[in-house]
Amino acid sequence: MLQFSTVRVVMRVVFDIGGSVLVPEDPDIEFIRALSYELIKISEDHEVAVVVGGGKVSRKYIKAAKTFTPNETFKDYIGIHITRANAMLLIAALGEKAYPFVIQDFRKAWEVIQLKKIPIMGGTHPGHTTDAVAALLAEYLQADLLVVVTNVDGVYDSDPRKNPNAKKLERITPEQLVEIAMEAESKAGGSGVVDALAAKFIQRGRIRTYIVGKRDAYHLFDVVRGKHHGTVVEP
Ligand code: UTP
Repeated sequence: MLQFSTVRVVMRVVFDIGGSVLVPEDPDIEFIRALSYELIKISEDHEVAVVVGGGKVSRKYIKAAKTFTPNETFKDYIGIHITRANAMLLIAALGEKAYPFVIQDFRKAWEVIQLKKIPIMGGTHPGHTTDAVAALLAEYLQADLLVVVTNVDGVYDSDPRKNPNAKKLERITPEQLVEIAMEAESKAGGSGVVDALAAKFIQRGRIRTYIVGKRDAYHLFDVVRGKHHGTVVEP
């Protein structure tokens, strides 16, 4: 008699949730609820780790701090605190499934995964953003996949907020991602869909990455299975 068995492939997935997606003005409660539901569902089959950004709140605090100090590193620390407050919010929403402290060390994140809990991180050190943290975490954990959730729905050949004819790129190499991210950062006040340092880490770690928008983030379970409208970065 033929016996069919389904082989379950366990993936290790790192999610990079942009602060502006999680907390656009105020915390987006409905989104955080939906995100938590999807993350818990994914964690039933896969190993999951999450990094969250600071969003508008961190930008407001950093701007306010500029009035009092020119010290960039100091302002980065303020940003890091805000990312960690957002991380606490996600921990609250995930309940028992999340490790109850904000993780600050990649090795601890690994340990938490072994405990079958979801490690949640914010920022780590001054000088970069949480995109870079997520890319480094994915590299350290040897993740099978990095999912970047950002406020643009993928990588475009030019800035879609400025050029209505900008075309979304469905599939790019890490080298192309580095080029696009560096080009965006070189423009005054420019910030790309992923920061250039993170793109470099994605290239260095040969990390398979999906870059998706908020609409797709409501269906992260499908995104992990490759069903989304964003960009695939394929090493
Ligand atoms: P974010 O990662 O949120 O930066 O960190 P962002 O570019 O504003 O991204 P979105 O909008 O959330 O997606 C906020 C600030 O915190 C500091 C930096 O100053 C950064 O701009 N930070 C964050 C660090 O210095 N180190 C970190 O590891 C993370």
